[in-house]
Amino acid sequence: MIDIERQGRVQVIRMNRPAKKNALTGEMYTAMAEALEAGNADPGVGVHLVCGVAGSFTAGNDIADFLAYASNGGMENAPVVRFLRALVGCDVPMVAAVDGLAIGVGTTMLFHCDMVFASPRALFKTPFIDLGLVPEAGSSLLAPALMGHARAFELLCLGESFDPVRAKAAGFVSHIVAEDELEARAMATARAIAAKPAEAMRLSRELLLGDRAALAVRVEREIAAFTERLSSPEARAAFTAFMDRARPAD
Ligand code: COA
Repeated sequence: MIDIERQGRVQVIRMNRPAKKNALTGEMYTAMAEALEAGNADPGVGVHLVCGVAGSFTAGNDIADFLAYASNGGMENAPVVRFLRALVGCDVPMVAAVDGLAIGVGTTMLFHCDMVFASPRALFKTPFIDLGLVPEAGSSLLAPALMGHARAFELLCLGESFDPVRAKAAGFVSHIVAEDELEARAMATARAIAAKPAEAMRLSRELLLGDRAALAVRVEREIAAFTERLSSPEARAAFTAFMDRARPAD
């Protein structure tokens, strides 16, 4: 469900669970975390290129897993947490190619990417509040810094959908590219990044990222709040409503 492939110095991390719109399971988070962590120690990896399948970047965390965390005492040691920490700790430039749905972590992981290519039919949405949850992946810090409080509030708290034009204006989409050219364009840019002097690139990116320690602290605060929210009546009702909708009675 996560396909990892090397193309030269570009490590392609592809979410590939089309039947579930690329909803992310624990197994998938573990594979993505391992790929990011491995890149930090491997000078052969110059860039991570994160992509999905036609029409689905990802529908976000698998909601069945949210229900399981709620019943099993939280998610402090869950694979998703390892993935969130790996995003913050990633030392290698990240490029994303987004076609179609980018929901929840599908949007918030993009705030960790250095460049994001999106197709015209990309859709960015973080329905955390509607699910009784709070923003994650450092988005409560990164989104207001990137787009200002008011736009971040619309995205993260109101749960408004952002189309690619709005996402580009908000600063988290770099270029809008037709579906059939999207991955080739993202790959060409990834290769160009990977062709630069690697040490200078890593150091420069580190300087641009600023205070990653503060980001790491915020991610842990979000995880604590998220974990508390998971077993709240609001969240359980929202998860159950989705699961019932997804599995209608015969
Ligand atoms: N978790 C678990 N399963 C999911 C999922 C998710 N986040 N997103 C989609 N799926 C599943 C559906 O249950 C459905 O499975 P089924 O065919 O076995 O019933 C399948 O993927 C296709 O989804 P469907 O809802 O039929 O497609 P759609 O095009 O009508 O809607 C979405 C797509 C993504 C808008 C809708 O599925 C949705 O809202 N998903 C939840 C997104 C979400 O809230 N994510 C968490 C963010 S924090």
